[in-house]
Amino acid sequence: MIDDKTLMEEAQKARGRSYSPYSHFRVGAALLAKSGKLYTGCNIENAAYSATVCAERTAFFKAVSEGEREFEALAIVGGKEGETSDFCAPCGVCRQVIAEFCPKHFKILLGNPEKFEAYTLEALLPFSFTEKDL
Ligand code: THU
Repeated sequence: MIDDKTLMEEAQKARGRSYSPYSHFRVGAALLAKSGKLYTGCNIENAAYSATVCAERTAFFKAVSEGEREFEALAIVGGKEGETSDFCAPCGVCRQVIAEFCPKHFKILLGNPEKFEAYTLEALLPFSFTEKDL
């Protein structure tokens, strides 16, 4: 099983693959599935800005499209190009995507490999709208 620090290091490595020529804001994510497999993602920008995809969704969509449905933890590392990553919280759309597949107690690690904190999905997205509401 991958530990929290290793997951943060994988997110940091994924950040290195960020394609962000417009915002120069580089984000990496590392998603650990219950199967034990790791899925990483980076933000991928586009000249038509709205076609951009965040690092977290890249990781989730890679995993789900490979058949994964259950997840253990997600690490996110982001920050401005040329700067050491500090703290990057997931955007609202990514929080909603996480809530589609993960329970309230799902662990989300934010910060950098040297200094990070664990949050629950519920702390980041209280009063979420999910399938139970339909
Ligand atoms: N970004 C992410 O990849 N994840 C987040 O949670 C925050 C924002 C990306 C999207 C865009 O490429 C850049 O950061 C600036 O918004």
